Amino acid sequence: MTLLDAKSLTVKFGGVAALNALSFHVDPGEFVGVLGANGSGKSTLLDVLSGLRSSSGSVTFRGRELARVPAHARHRLGISRSYQNLELSPALSVRESLRAGSRVRGRRSVEEIARVSELFSLEDVGAERVGVLPYGVRKRVELGRAFLCQPALVLLDEPMAGLNDAEKDRVASVLREIGAEPEPPAIVLVEHDVSVVAALSSRIVAIDLGSVIAEGNPRDVIAAPAVQRAYLGV
Ligand SMILES: Nc1ncnc2c1ncn2[C@@H]1O[C@H](COP(=O)(O)OP(=O)(O)OP(=O)(O)O)[C@@H](O)[C@H]1O
Ligand SMILES: [Mg+2]
Repeated sequence: MTLLDAKSLTVKFGGVAALNALSFHVDPGEFVGVLGANGSGKSTLLDVLSGLRSSSGSVTFRGRELARVPAHARHRLGISRSYQNLELSPALSVRESLRAGSRVRGRRSVEEIARVSELFSLEDVGAERVGVLPYGVRKRVELGRAFLCQPALVLLDEPMAGLNDAEKDRVASVLREIGAEPEPPAIVLVEHDVSVVAALSSRIVAIDLGSVIAEGNPRDVIAAPAVQRAYLGV
């Protein structure tokens, strides 16, 4: 059964359609890459799926219509996300930031924070204020938050933007590790680095001007003429 099914999403800003009758689905445990040029609608898509922006069309999650389900309730249902611009409070410690992002309290939360800290190599900086940490570490805190408490679907908006190659590799290997878990969450990865997206994703959806222009296995999508034209500038 499809985990998340979005049909004919349209979002307009003034005269500009950020999403134009876009349909998008994710199966349980699937790793879906989303490619698209600047302004093609990727973040708007994640905003609609996570409930931060309303849209025409429909979004169902495990068969349930989400139209009237607000963002915090979608999070409780198991839809989690990270942000393109870090949404962390600089005054909080890493551990506090993780705790604030947890959907549960008490022992579960402590265990989950420990698990995510280990996964994202944050154990040594748990007590540090987020604001004083290097950008690459803050990115990992932001990312780690999205994986707390076994979400069913994790939406990642450019988790590798601004990272150097070594930091990107590190994030990619954590994502690969998560994908290899016995029952991994489904992951939607929005990322500009084509080779990273291709290496991690089992399916890629390429969007341009708010519409899907190609979809399928990474090799075919990257080779598609419409993708070459719209995204790779060929
Ligand atoms: N709050 C807003 N108000 C007006 N226009 C917006 C708003 N948010 C997005 N847009 C416009 O909607 C379109 C899609 O934007 P979106 O941020 O979804 O693109 P994106 O694919 O995430 O781009 P990027 O790769 O730069 O992050 C763009 O034309 C953008 O200018
Ligand atoms: Mg964006």
